Amino acid sequence: MLNNWLFKTQGKPDKGGKEMKKVLLQGSLLGTLMLAGVAAYLILFLQDTGKTYAQENPLQIPTLIDSLEADNNIELAIQDGANEFFAGIKSDTKGFGQSYLGPTIRLYKGETTRLTYRNNLTENTTVHGHGLHVSGRVDGGPQGKILAGQSLSVDLPIVQEAGTSWYHPHYMGKTGEQVHAGLAGLYIIEDENSQSLPLPKAYGVDDIPLIIQDRTFVDGKMKPYKVTHRQILDGLVEETLVINGTVNPYHQAPAGWVRLRLLNASNARFYRFFFTDDAPFYKIATEGGFLNKPVAMTSLSMSPGERNEIMVNLADLTSLSLMAEFLPMDPEDQTWFFENPVQRVIDLRVDTSLPANGTLPSKLNDIAYYQQADIDNAVRRDFTMYMEDEDQELHGHNLLSINNVAMQMDVINEQVKQGDMELWMVKGEMMPHPFHVHGVSFQIITHNGQPPAEADRGWKDTLVVTEEPTEILMRFDHLASQEFPYMYHCHIFEHEESGMMGQFTVTQ
Ligand code: C2O
Ligand code: CU
Ligand code: CU
Repeated sequence: MLNNWLFKTQGKPDKGGKEMKKVLLQGSLLGTLMLAGVAAYLILFLQDTGKTYAQENPLQIPTLIDSLEADNNIELAIQDGANEFFAGIKSDTKGFGQSYLGPTIRLYKGETTRLTYRNNLTENTTVHGHGLHVSGRVDGGPQGKILAGQSLSVDLPIVQEAGTSWYHPHYMGKTGEQVHAGLAGLYIIEDENSQSLPLPKAYGVDDIPLIIQDRTFVDGKMKPYKVTHRQILDGLVEETLVINGTVNPYHQAPAGWVRLRLLNASNARFYRFFFTDDAPFYKIATEGGFLNKPVAMTSLSMSPGERNEIMVNLADLTSLSLMAEFLPMDPEDQTWFFENPVQRVIDLRVDTSLPANGTLPSKLNDIAYYQQADIDNAVRRDFTMYMEDEDQELHGHNLLSINNVAMQMDVINEQVKQGDMELWMVKGEMMPHPFHVHGVSFQIITHNGQPPAEADRGWKDTLVVTEEPTEILMRFDHLASQEFPYMYHCHIFEHEESGMMGQFTVTQ
């Protein structure tokens, strides 16, 4: 991929506080000499991108496991696989009970579901419920190990409202690699509200999960995970979109409203999604639940770890494509001589024989917004995600940290009291970082110094932060002990695993 640090000094003057970027540039590139090289590379890249359009594949829909139909008892085998992204060509992968990714698990508010993971891998792992409001003991963070060859059962009591969450490994030092190999899947939580709303609800027909990842293929084979020093800093960004494990997918959809559950499950890439011809769509949900009302938009940016539900009306259309612009890591990077690469996410093809049952309701939710008194009473904490590679030559490793402390498995960085309001002021230095907190959903108070846009006034657990402070407000209702603490971290896996993560307890 294009190297964003290059654009920085080529394109415009450094701002104050960005000196380090120069160091990064000088340390890694030969300045202007690289310009022609990048241009040539981009052209090759775009041509390569064009190639993937040749072969189209029906979108794979992950198997749905309904927890009630499964008597609230679900077993998942974590296994090695040989997945065929391209027919007849096997790639080394991992999956939950299948060769790549895992089933979508439907959970219900008010129910407790037992999940049993059988680790058939030859290495240790964990399974984290990203977005679940559950205690640290069953959260599946780095401390919740499932050793190679062993099993672990956890009971997940679902007390939160309807939304789209996901599960993925979180084993320290293995997260990026294991997710990259295919270990990820969706949780769909339902409640009375979601079940009574007249939304599209036919899973895989008009309620369509889209797990969005980027991978590199060499002769049709997925390039295994391996990161250089530079990729640890930039994050691993790759060439070809893979949706639910499908390369260049299409999907037959009814001639009416469809609902797309978007999950950015990429290791590091940020996307801006839009439809062909800038067709309007509606955002109906953020990570932790529905917005109060649908918000009309024509484009939506998402960082790793984020989920959003959107709806688009296919009536009167024969097809519509969802596109993704590959964003540079720093939004200040101007594309002053090239557009950012764009790839198709999915082609939605109208099949008029399919029933169109869903509509877009005008009211979706009744979010209890936090009040000024909650802010006034909150415990305040500051977090700054930071990275530098100055000492690389001296120490042979990167320095990535939060508040100048790199994650250590045996260090608890913060202690929170159950039931307290917590106002966290978060900043991301050097580039935007998706900040994620375990065990909770938060509300945005200010984002980049501004009140949140209507489309962001929902429950979230992952949010891009920059050098401008972002304030999030939340209350932790579940416990996380020293043995099984919660995490806060950058959701660029390469950053998370190189130190940009911290641990905290929630106690009575
Ligand atoms: Cu999606 Cu701590 O993770
Ligand atoms: Cu998480
Ligand atoms: Cu980061």
